[in-house]
Amino acid sequence: MKTNYRIVLIMMVTGLFGINYALGAEPTFEQTQLIKKGEYLAIVADCAACHRPIEETGKPFSGGYTIDSPMGKIIASNITPSDSYGIGKWTEQQFADALRKGINAKGDHLYPAMPYTSYQQITDEDIHALYTYFMQGVAPVDKAPNQQTSLSFPFNIRQLMWGWNLLFTHEKPFTPSATSSAQLNRGHYLVDALAHCSTCHTPRNALMAETSSQYLAGAALGGWYAPNITSDKESGIGTWSTDDIVTYLKTGHVNDKAQAAGPMAEAVEHSFRKMSDDDLHAMALWIQQVPAITTPTANRSQSQAQPDINAVITGQGNQASLANSSTTDGAVLYESACASCHGRQGEGTSDHFYPPLTHNTAVSSITPNNLIMTISEGLVRQGQDTTVSMPAFNQQLSPAQIASVTQYVRQHFAGIDSPVSAEQVKQLQEGGEAPFIVKYTWPMLIGGLILLALLILIVMRRKR
Ligand code: HEC
Ligand code: HEC
Ligand code: HEC
Repeated sequence: MKTNYRIVLIMMVTGLFGINYALGAEPTFEQTQLIKKGEYLAIVADCAACHRPIEETGKPFSGGYTIDSPMGKIIASNITPSDSYGIGKWTEQQFADALRKGINAKGDHLYPAMPYTSYQQITDEDIHALYTYFMQGVAPVDKAPNQQTSLSFPFNIRQLMWGWNLLFTHEKPFTPSATSSAQLNRGHYLVDALAHCSTCHTPRNALMAETSSQYLAGAALGGWYAPNITSDKESGIGTWSTDDIVTYLKTGHVNDKAQAAGPMAEAVEHSFRKMSDDDLHAMALWIQQVPAITTPTANRSQSQAQPDINAVITGQGNQASLANSSTTDGAVLYESACASCHGRQGEGTSDHFYPPLTHNTAVSSITPNNLIMTISEGLVRQGQDTTVSMPAFNQQLSPAQIASVTQYVRQHFAGIDSPVSAEQVKQLQEGGEAPFIVKYTWPMLIGGLILLALLILIVMRRKR
């Protein structure tokens, strides 16, 4: 009798606390700190970039953003704490399973467009902070994204991911190395578990999983190319100082080296520029000691950067006349479209606000992809200090014109003499070459089935 009374009392008190909380009682100091920590982790993991609404005015994390994959459209979910449309009713375990195993509260497999292969390393402590933030620090949005994920057959069968996960996930949380400093371990954790650099910078195998032996050695990404960022001096970023890497992540701009456009500009804007200097430093130190992997570099002639000044001068034009011009003379196009900002000889401005093209990795890289994509899509990037922008030219210039100005820029400012075709430009603008998995779906599916059958056989043998 007495114990029953106690239970009732406890229930009443905890119930009251619950009501208090719902009525907006002040969270405790510890809770506020935990929410803040979760918010910071969500920034490092860039949750908001994918789970953003489509409309500019939409609320954070309400979803709807479309990831165009070669297999079809994948729509990022509403992950606000809405009970009916978001994750309001999810337990911490369900939240952890979505992040680390790629399985949602309904038990459905998520597609790896949600980077759970990286998040599987997030520690319990950080999962707890993230969960607290999403439940208590994010405003609920009672609205479903107005599109649904729709992939082509057989990729619309979510259960297929079961086999893929079996092969490519391990669900082991990050374990710090005993022989490394705390700072290096922190950098490693941030780079791999949260900031997921490797999802873009590591090439993928035939089944679209990251090739661990090629960690950070560079990979195609839609029309873009995420370069080799290992410590190789020629093909990687082995000549960059720790400060160069920190500056690049914070502002997207390192004088005479590189500027971030496309997906990297987005990562800088939404995520890296908001990180603490200590954390950026730790990440840079980790990146710098990643073993060098040598990948092919572009053939550059000895007599590099000899702009064809005569051709440039005779080819004077102006930006306004571009839309009506059908010329495919690279020099004329460069003069009309680029020289006003980047200088006639690609020298840029002395304050580097308009960067030189003579010292730029997008120009001198093995692939012309990033140059083509920057010219096509332009660039808008909010860094820690300023906002920079370059106009997009895909409306004014045809693929053939973009091809010839690309070729001109590479030839004259980097000494690279390799042809660029209109077809190549068109293909990149449309999202790059279809990966292996799409081109060879059927043979692969059969391969997958054979593999599965073998696995079942092995399991049955073991049981006997
Ligand atoms: C690169 C893009 C990307 C990033 C970054 C990302 N997500 Fe996702 N997430 C997705 C996509 C796409 C889906 C839907 C996948 C599907 O339909 O299979 C998803 C699904 C989810 C789901 C399952 C929702 C449901 O109702 O099934 C949760 C929970 C989630 N994400 C949480 C997070 C959190 C928390 C973060 C940051 C730590 C994060 N996501 C970062 C793309 C992303
Ligand atoms: C969403 C994909 C994506 C993610 C995530 C990403 N990168 Fe990048 N990164 C790119 C692309 C694409 C480029 C090329 C940008 C350009 O040249 O305009 C790039 C360029 C770079 C460069 C310049 C290399 C050069 O030679 O010009 C560095 C350094 C870099 N990234 C480091 C990182 C680090 C460190 C992380 C994680 C903390 C990271 N990136 C995460 C896509 C990504
Ligand atoms: C209105 C000025 C303007 C014009 C015109 C312009 N750019 Fe740019 N460009 C910029 C700015 C600003 C940046 C970014 C600087 C930064 O990131 O700090 C940039 C960046 C670049 C980059 C570096 C991108 C990367 O991924 O590393 C390249 C390459 C480039 N421009 C080439 C061109 C070419 C080629 C043309 C002509 C087709 C052109 N630009 C026209 C202003 C301009």
